[in-house]
Formats: sequence, structure tokens, C-alpha cells
Amino acid sequence: MLMNRTEKAAVDNPARRALQRFYEVPALLRLAGGPLPPGARAVEVGCGSGYGTRMILDRFRAAKVDALDLDPAMVIKARRRLTDRPGRVRLAVGDATDLKAAFGAEGGTYDAAFDFAIIHHIPDWRSAVAEIARVLKPGGVFVFDEVTAHALARPSYRKLFEHPEHDRFTAQEFLAELPRHGLAVTGAFTRISGDYLLGAARKQAPDRG
Ligand SMILES: C[S@@+](CC[C@H](N)C(=O)[O-])C[C@H]1O[C@@H](n2cnc3c(N)ncnc32)[C@H](O)[C@@H]1O
Repeated sequence: MLMNRTEKAAVDNPARRALQRFYEVPALLRLAGGPLPPGARAVEVGCGSGYGTRMILDRFRAAKVDALDLDPAMVIKARRRLTDRPGRVRLAVGDATDLKAAFGAEGGTYDAAFDFAIIHHIPDWRSAVAEIARVLKPGGVFVFDEVTAHALARPSYRKLFEHPEHDRFTAQEFLAELPRHGLAVTGAFTRISGDYLLGAARKQAPDRG
């Protein structure tokens, strides 16, 4: 589901970018065990205006990022923000639940996958988790920063923003879903009374037993 105008203003402004840069990204880097290995290839679902994509390149030190968003207007904004990174970013309009359609991504393509506050926008959020797990290499890291059902139920959120109404997840439900797709949580915490969940998980090697 696309953002409404109020949410676009709430997520794409200098205060949010400062929160991401000075608080969320350092916390996520700690949870993920530091920057990515040299040459790492990353995918970002729901890139919005592309600020998170910059963080993936500059702070997580991905060599290349494939970033997509369902909203063509967001992809245009991201393209403008990332013009100084030719050859390192591939942008597409597409759905996080089908990375094969957007990037031709086969199973085990990426060293890292990033979700900066987007999976709670997807009606069938479990299929987005499954798709992320599919495209990660064994040992690849899934970095997430999510908005929980607890936040979405707040009167302010309900009044100002538009999200799918049903089957939203608590932090516990999101964390419990990851191992069902072979993703082992390496660290996570919530902030603001469980409204936001930050964490990292690693794709397990297939069980050869
Ligand atoms: C709250 S915004 C976050 C944007 C950006 N990651 C950020 O942190 O600023 C959620 C984004 O997810 C996108 N989105 C919603 N559903 C999507 C889907 N199924 N696949 C890809 N992007 C989606 C929206 O268009 C929007 O840009």
C-alpha cells in the first residue's frame, strides 16, 4: 500500500533523516555485526526517496544496491538523490514480494537485504519476508527497522496515515516469522513501548542432514 501525503511528509524530511543517520543506522550496524564484507551486493525493499539507499552504500559499505519501490514517484525521487552513484545502484518500480520480476533475482543472490519501515505496508507481509529469505545467500544478513501493530493502532497513526487494516504484526510476531523462512535473529530491540522494532537476522545454510 502506498503512503498518503501526510506520511510522505513524515518520512522524508531532515528530522527523520537525522534520526536514521545518527540513531537507527548506528544501532542497526551494531545488530548486523558491522559493515558488509567487501564487494557485498544488497537489496533494499521500499526504498522511498533513497536516503536509506545512501546509508546502505556509505555506512553499511555495500558495493552495489538493488533498490525498489511500489510508488513510481518515490523511485524518481530516489534516482535524483542517487545520481552521484552511477553503476552502484539499480532502481526499479516493483513489489517487495517479487524480486525476480523487478531485478531477475534468483535464490541466493544477495549478501544483505534491507527493510527500512516498509513491510508493515504490505498486506501479505509474510510473503515479503519469504521473498527476502529466498534471495539472500546463506550467511547473508537481513536488516530491519519496522513499525509494529502497536504503533499502527495508535489514534494518531490511524488518523494521519493509511496502512492495511488487518493482520499487522507485533514485534514478537515479526521475530517469530523469521525462523520459518530460515532466518535466525542475531539481535533485536523495540523502542517507544514496542512501537518500533529494529533488528538483524542471518540466513541459515540449508540443512544437509
Ligand atoms: C514508510 S515508507 C518508507 C520509505 C523508506 N524506506 C524510508 O525509510 O524512508 C514505505 C515505502 O514502502 C513502499 N511500499 C509499499 N508497499 C510496497 C511493496 N509491496 N513493495 C515495495 N515497496 C512498497 C511505499 O511506496 C513507501 O515508499
